[in-house]
This record gives sequence, C-alpha cells and structure tokens, in this order.
Amino acid sequence: MTYFRKEEKLFSVDDLKEEDIELLDPTLRWWMSEQGQVREEEVRGTKERMRTSIGGDAHDDVYIVARERAGGPPAGVMGFGSLDAHFSPYRSAADAKAVGLLTAFISPDYRGQGLGKVLITEVFHKARTAGCKEIIWSSNPRYRETAWQFYTAMAGNHIGTIDDFFFPGSLSLVWRKSL
Ligand SMILES: CC(C)(COP(=O)(O)OP(=O)(O)OC[C@H]1O[C@@H](n2cnc3c(N)ncnc32)[C@H](O)[C@@H]1OP(=O)(O)O)[C@@H](O)C(=O)NCCC(=O)NCCS
Repeated sequence: MTYFRKEEKLFSVDDLKEEDIELLDPTLRWWMSEQGQVREEEVRGTKERMRTSIGGDAHDDVYIVARERAGGPPAGVMGFGSLDAHFSPYRSAADAKAVGLLTAFISPDYRGQGLGKVLITEVFHKARTAGCKEIIWSSNPRYRETAWQFYTAMAGNHIGTIDDFFFPGSLSLVWRKSL
C-alpha cells in the first residue's frame, strides 16, 4: 500500500477488492453516461471485467484504487491489461511488450486533487514491474474535455489517432507511454 498526503487529507493506493466494485458503481454511472442516460452495458461490462480480475482464474488485468483513508471507500480506480489488437500497430516495435490502460475514473467529489496522477503513476510502475515496456491507450470522445489534457500531461503528446474504435465514425487520440 502506498500513502500520500494532499492538503489535509491522507490517501492510500492499493489493489481493487471485491467490495470496492459496488462502491465504485456511482462513479462508473456518473462518467459512463451520455445526455443523462447511463450506458448500462458499459457499466455492467466494466464491473464484470473488474470482478474477473480479482477472481482465482488466470487473468491479465490489474486494477488499483485510491482511498481517502486506508480501508475507506474507493475515490478512484485505474487499471491495465492485455492490449486490444487494434492498438498493436501503435507499439514502438513489433516485439515490444505492451499493455493497455483500463477504466480511469475519479469520483466527481475527488477530481483535480492529484489522485489521477498518483493512480496513473502507480499503474505505470506496476506495468513496468510486470515486465511491460510500454502502455498504450485511447479515450472515448465523450471524455475529450475531462481527460484528454490529463493524458497528454501524463504521457506527452498523442502519437496518433484511431478511427471507429469506440463507435462507427469515432475519431480519438492514441497515447503511448514508455515504461
Ligand atoms: C481524468 C482523471 C482520471 C484525472 O484525474 P484527476 O485526479 O482529476 O487529475 P489530477 O488532479 O491528478 O491532475 C494531474 C494533472 O493533470 C492536469 N489535468 C487533469 N485533468 C485535466 C483537464 N481536464 N484539463 C487540463 N488539465 C488537467 C492537472 O492540472 C494536473 O496537472 P499538474 O500535475 O501540473 O498539477 C479524472 O479527472 C476523471 O476521472 N475525469 C472524468 C472521467 C474521465 O474522463 N475519465 C477518463 C476516461 S478515458
């Protein structure tokens, strides 16, 4: 577990636990919405993937959470896992071991307090420790105003764009961070 202090608050970062998944539900529903409509399938799929990641079966995904105090409810979540095949062409070399960034959401109550930076830095560290050379991701255009500048601040300018990844006609940026 890693601790860090922001203003008067003490935060900790550790692995996602089963009981965190339902506690994260309001944050997932808040951000996985369009025009006031929750994207139920996305929320369900994300929670399912989180559940699988902490199950006993072999899996590649790792999720971590930030909490306002050790053992408290999660204030944000991020993870990494096997790279979607659509991102293979964006690797720096054909044999570079790469993973993808998963589910980067901070509760609206905690945005802008440095938790995103702490979580993504820990994701980079864990992926590097797992033997990965780089991490590659994109972001749904619905997050253009809420996340794209954060990603550029954390990884540098995008290295390309990808068409039709999130929905037919979508155009989104691709970031790659060498680990
Ligand atoms: C994107 C997100 C994970 C970032 O987490 P956060 O805790 O708000 O970000 P931090 O406070 O750690 O910010 C880190 C740095 O990025 C910058 N930054 C963060 N969000 C930014 C934004 N929207 N525009 C410009 N800069 C931003 C901060 O100014 C800060 O800069 P600094 O290191 O120079 O101080 C979080 O804001 C979030 O959950 N957004 C809504 C959901 C979303 O869009 N998720 C992405 C899905 S792909």
